[in-house]
Amino acid sequence: MSARHFLSLKDCTPQELVSLIRRGIELKDLRNRGVLFEPLKNRVLGMIFEKASTRTRLSFEAGMIQLGGQAIFLSPRDTQLGRGEPIADAAKVMSRMLDAVMIRTFAHSNLIEFASNSLVPVINGLSDDLHPCQLLADMQTFLEHRGNIAGKTVTWIGDGNNMCNSYIEAAQQFDFQLRIACPEGYEPPPEFLAQAADRVQIFRDPREAVAGAHLVSTDVWASMGQEEEIAERLKLFAPYQVNRALLDTAAEDVLFLHCLPAHRGEEISEDLLDDPRSAAWDQAENRLHAQKALLEFLVEPAYHHA
Ligand code: CP
Ligand code: NVA
Repeated sequence: MSARHFLSLKDCTPQELVSLIRRGIELKDLRNRGVLFEPLKNRVLGMIFEKASTRTRLSFEAGMIQLGGQAIFLSPRDTQLGRGEPIADAAKVMSRMLDAVMIRTFAHSNLIEFASNSLVPVINGLSDDLHPCQLLADMQTFLEHRGNIAGKTVTWIGDGNNMCNSYIEAAQQFDFQLRIACPEGYEPPPEFLAQAADRVQIFRDPREAVAGAHLVSTDVWASMGQEEEIAERLKLFAPYQVNRALLDTAAEDVLFLHCLPAHRGEEISEDLLDDPRSAAWDQAENRLHAQKALLEFLVEPAYHHA
């Protein structure tokens, strides 16, 4: 199968990633100026959601419509996937009818299996391991607010989860140093840490990890699928809340990002999203622009100005 997929930031070169982000900024400007740009007319994106979503669904669906195409929401409850049709069979059939497929699933291996049987590009809309589309938006937001991230220090506070793993990949692809502050036993998986040993450091003390940082980010303490662990996690993660006092110890021009949804009073203080150092709303909006650039790149590469 020769289609180009986006399951991880590692599926693109650093140059391609930079050009995707620049293109996201251009597409944002076109939309803000009311310019119609419809390179994906008659193209159809299938979107398989095995987990809940607000931003990912809306940004892909609105993005396809704005690019002149259409998106179809597929819930496993209503397709034969939910009744045990093999992933490989579904991939072979769906990819004969669609121009690209976005999948939000649990095991990352589901994405790999689908992609290896798909005739069209497959996009990771979040798996238990990675959330690469969110990182496109995060990197676009940092560039817009603070400029080039290369050489900067980024601090991840909280769970060593899918977002944290994508930050590890981003550290390698966008050339920054990553500090991770997490409780013992909640580090990212060793295979992610091993790829980036020269760029990633683990801390126990969030203050030590944040000192001098240019970007601070966090995420919920219990991800989708970990609902039964919530009570235990709330106790263990309590010292890892990001609040204004913690941000005060970072670089003076620190930017705070949160992929959302946020749990105020848990991983962030009640007031943090309203702090001038937070760009979380721009970050959420940038899902739309960054993913439009990604769709254009994967589905109609001729329109992508590298
Ligand atoms: N950040 C993010 O992926 O949000 P949703 O779960 O709402 O899609
Ligand atoms: N880590 C979170 C991210 C949600 C966008 C989860 O997987 O639920």
